[in-house]
Amino acid sequence: MAGNWKMYKTPAETSAFFEEFRPLVAQSQHCEIVICPPFTNLVAAVEAARGSRIAVGAQNIAWASEGALTGEISGPMIRATGATHAIIGHSERRQYFCETDETVLRRTQAALVSGLSPIVCVGERLEEREAGHTEEVLSRQFQQGIAGLTPEEFACIVIAYEPVWAIGTGKTATPEIAAETHRTIRAEVRARYGKEAADDVRILYGGSVKPDNARSLMAQPEIDGVLVGGASLQPVSFASIVNF
Ligand code: 13P
Repeated sequence: MAGNWKMYKTPAETSAFFEEFRPLVAQSQHCEIVICPPFTNLVAAVEAARGSRIAVGAQNIAWASEGALTGEISGPMIRATGATHAIIGHSERRQYFCETDETVLRRTQAALVSGLSPIVCVGERLEEREAGHTEEVLSRQFQQGIAGLTPEEFACIVIAYEPVWAIGTGKTATPEIAAETHRTIRAEVRARYGKEAADDVRILYGGSVKPDNARSLMAQPEIDGVLVGGASLQPVSFASIVNF
């Protein structure tokens, strides 16, 4: 159960969130919990999560470990904060910051080299779904990005399916649509990495996940977890999603 805070919260607000959130999930043993704040809050988040089961992740990662790459943050830097995960290829990065399937692959490899767990995002835009191109888009994102990983590398990633039309719009994919699309992604995984890898890989759903729809989404065996934006910013709402 992962929270993507996007560009919200200061370090002080991060500490306040954890203070309220920790007791609400103290008994939650059924899942991994990851919170991904902005880079500037990673240290505060790791500090505030110390001694709990809550892991901390970044929202992006450079493809190189160091270099003349103004504005980028590398795997070793993220690792040094104590964070353990990194979201890669979020649709907002694809849409506004020229992220491509190729850079998604390079960033994923860089995360793995640094010992970070990548949460790799895929998903189609509204016009692509309406034109009946969902499978084709997901296949391209998979083939030109994720499929470049070795089987050993692939075993270490989590995939997040986030239909762009469901992000921040209040339009959740129905549990059935989400499950069907997860099956499409799993079929790509099976074709490239085999049945065992397809059975084992965790696929998260993201896009307007809220306390009141988390249970019906999680009731789909195909949906292994969720990647939550807006509803992860409030301790009570994210805790009730975690404890669906
Ligand atoms: P919302 O939950 O705000 O729709 O955002 C989803 C998302 O983009 C998570 O990465």
